[in-house]
Amino acid sequence: MKNILVTGGAGFIGSNFVHLMLERGGFETLINLDALTYAGNLDNLADIENDPRYIFVKGDIRDAGLIGSLFDKYDIDTVVNFAAESHVDRSITDPLSFVSTNVVGTQTLLDAAKNHWKVDPKDKYSNEYKPGVKYLQVSTDEVYGALGKEGMFRETTPLSPNSPYSASKASADLMVRAYHNTFGLPCNITRCSNNYGPYQFPEKLIPLMINNAKADKPLPVYGDGMQIRDWLHVKDHCAAIATVLEKGVDGEVYNIGGNNEKANIYIVGLILQTLGKGEDLITHVKDRPGHDRRYAIDNTKITTQLGWAPAYTFEEGIAETIQWYLDHQTWMEKILSGDYQNYYERMYQNA
Ligand code: NAD
Ligand code: DAU
Repeated sequence: MKNILVTGGAGFIGSNFVHLMLERGGFETLINLDALTYAGNLDNLADIENDPRYIFVKGDIRDAGLIGSLFDKYDIDTVVNFAAESHVDRSITDPLSFVSTNVVGTQTLLDAAKNHWKVDPKDKYSNEYKPGVKYLQVSTDEVYGALGKEGMFRETTPLSPNSPYSASKASADLMVRAYHNTFGLPCNITRCSNNYGPYQFPEKLIPLMINNAKADKPLPVYGDGMQIRDWLHVKDHCAAIATVLEKGVDGEVYNIGGNNEKANIYIVGLILQTLGKGEDLITHVKDRPGHDRRYAIDNTKITTQLGWAPAYTFEEGIAETIQWYLDHQTWMEKILSGDYQNYYERMYQNA
């Protein structure tokens, strides 16, 4: 690994990954390509922006000309694709932008990787690539659909996405699979469960509930709040991705999760308790259409084959995370003072 192209590195998980990689080292240059949509925030990277190994490029993963020029200019040998429209609720009101970024954007990156890394890109029968190249697609457990009370998602579980978001991520995964099987592109797909931790955009459950509780505003719990997510600290997710980059077998999918299933209502209660607020703030609102009831990841493959394991317990991770949001009031206020207010009003006014 010499020159890494990280896409979506100004978002929640991408910015945590950039931090982790700069801490770990072992490469020459890290190029962060991000379109800076509503979810991209350079404040997440303010502390490392002058690191000589780091280059930020504002641009879109669907821009084939730009991507090609980055491969040429920086001799990219590794791609980690975080860039995506990532919020399920937004995918319900605007599915097209999810197809465009998540599917077309992924295919654009795959094409650039194939064309720059294949020893003879004109020979469609050749699967010979430059040594040491790797394309890693950051995917999600949501591609597997929803579970009942029992069972866990394995890498072999059939894809059965239920939201426009998860359908677009599953489509992107299938495109990665096709580039591996048809063109021999060295690649991996990682499918992680719900992340929590610093720099998460406040449209997502945990930062949204912390914000509302702090301000004594109602906490909008969808339906009965008994939906289950399998929570993992974002730094553990990033460490798992670094592990797959280092040791992942080409063409393999790796599930990432920390065996930490919690009902939404439990998380909301914990936030209220930590902040010393009463449960009367909990407001049950109309459920999300097509809401997946339960996710759970079987992480046997990555733990046994690649030796990754989560470092955080949920108890320490969530306490640290709540404190992080309390300590980063200015970071949050900048987001809340922008277009986010309009989104919040549109999203929750009729719920
Ligand atoms: P995020 O919404 O916080 O960040 C997405 C980033 O991508 C932003 O910086 C945004 O500006 C950028 N972006 C969006 N469209 C772009 C485009 N066309 N070109 C270039 N950049 C673009 O998302 P996140 O929560 O950090 O998720 C990152 C990735 O991880 C996504 O692919 C998501 O599907 C996946 N994932 C997320 C979770 C989770 O719990 N958040 C769990 C598993 C997988
Ligand atoms: O499982 C991985 C996925 O986790 C990622 O692929 C997605 O990018 C990420 O956004 C996340 O999806 P979820 O839909 O699970 O996350 P969200 O934070 O939106 O919601 C978590 C749960 O909380 C879900 O069951 C819906 C519920 N919820 C969410 C919001 C925003 C509420 O009850 N009220 C809310 O206001």
